[in-house]
Amino acid sequence: MSILITGGAGFIGSHTCIELLNSGREIVVVDNFFNSKPKALEIIRELTGSDFKFYEADICDKQALTRVFAENEITEVIHFAGYKAVAESVRFPLNYYNNNVGGTSVLLEIMSRHNCKKLVFSSSATVYGIPESVPVNEDFPLSAINPYGRTKLIIEEMCRDLHISDNEWSIALLRYFNPVGAHESGKLGEDPNGIPNNLMPIILQAATGKIPEINVCGNDYPTPDGTCVRDYIHVVDLARGHIAALEHMKNGVQTYNLGAGKGYSVLDVINTFKRVNGVNVPYKIAERRLGDAAECRSDPSKAERELGWKAEFGIERMCEDAWRFTLLL
Ligand code: NAD
Ligand code: WQD
Repeated sequence: MSILITGGAGFIGSHTCIELLNSGREIVVVDNFFNSKPKALEIIRELTGSDFKFYEADICDKQALTRVFAENEITEVIHFAGYKAVAESVRFPLNYYNNNVGGTSVLLEIMSRHNCKKLVFSSSATVYGIPESVPVNEDFPLSAINPYGRTKLIIEEMCRDLHISDNEWSIALLRYFNPVGAHESGKLGEDPNGIPNNLMPIILQAATGKIPEINVCGNDYPTPDGTCVRDYIHVVDLARGHIAALEHMKNGVQTYNLGAGKGYSVLDVINTFKRVNGVNVPYKIAERRLGDAAECRSDPSKAERELGWKAEFGIERMCEDAWRFTLLL
């Protein structure tokens, strides 16, 4: 009996594979390396001393997924595979609908055919749109402000419809806040193909001189220092949230915020990074970025109450681990 991990070579997926293998579970991984590298799989094997089956396949490919299910006894799926760059989703919305919504639809169909009806899905805080207040709990109104966010909302709705049609399904929708950090070994972290979009990978590029400076997107927000506030969560904490979700799977569709519940501004993150790592991170204040909320911070108490999970690592550790990984790259 194995757990299928789609997108298991990616940033969050690879750290989750480590936690699953370390807890003695058997896994099967599917990835097409659109945004990851085969090396991540070698490192998972090295760090855990465990082996697992890997299929280089696209989740949109029905035949390939059918083969995965035919050759393995898959009991649960943790579904990370998808595109995640907000700005790119505005330019190429159909790619996002095809890959994220289309791919998930194929996956759910094949799961259903093989009577595998337990799913943990990577949703996102983006489903809250621009929240009217913080902290954000799971009952807040949902909305999408870009095609990427809309794919997550549509997938959440697909899952609810599926359960209405067949009440054997157990689905956990995990709404991640801002995942950062890396494995403590420094060997595994966020290594995207192409130009990064998120703050931490951009800080890393500025710290290593790959880019001259960071553009801090606006300093006139109604926040303590005028820059946007977010709820950063260490990727290892996030990975452990998936184990907790698997262990507490219940019939129906459940939603959980996975965040640390603490808010840090862009300047807080840059200054913490500089302080704990002793490196310079050049930045300049630039224009606001379209669609940014002034503040987004989770209320993670439902996950603590129902899953027995809460984030343990602080912002200093997130910055230290991210830097260690970059130095070893
Ligand atoms: P990532 O890009 O590092 O990982 C995604 C993995 O899926 C990659 O290895 C990629 O190659 C693979 N993939 C993409 N499309 C595929 C396909 N059609 N078939 C097979 N493999 C495919 O991203 P991540 O940060 O690890 O995010 C994982 C999931 O979490 C995504 O669904 C993302 O939308 C969601 N999420 C991420 C964040 C974040 O900020 N990192 C926040 C909230 C939600
Ligand atoms: C964080 C803060 C920027 C870049 C996104 C997605 C969300 C989820 C997580 C997937 C913001 C500021 C950034 C830069 C900056 N992903 N910033 N200069 O926007 O909170 O969330 O990733 O589901 O859906 O929207 O994260 O890392 O892009 O930005 O000042 O060059 O850093 O304005 O305040 P965001 P981010």
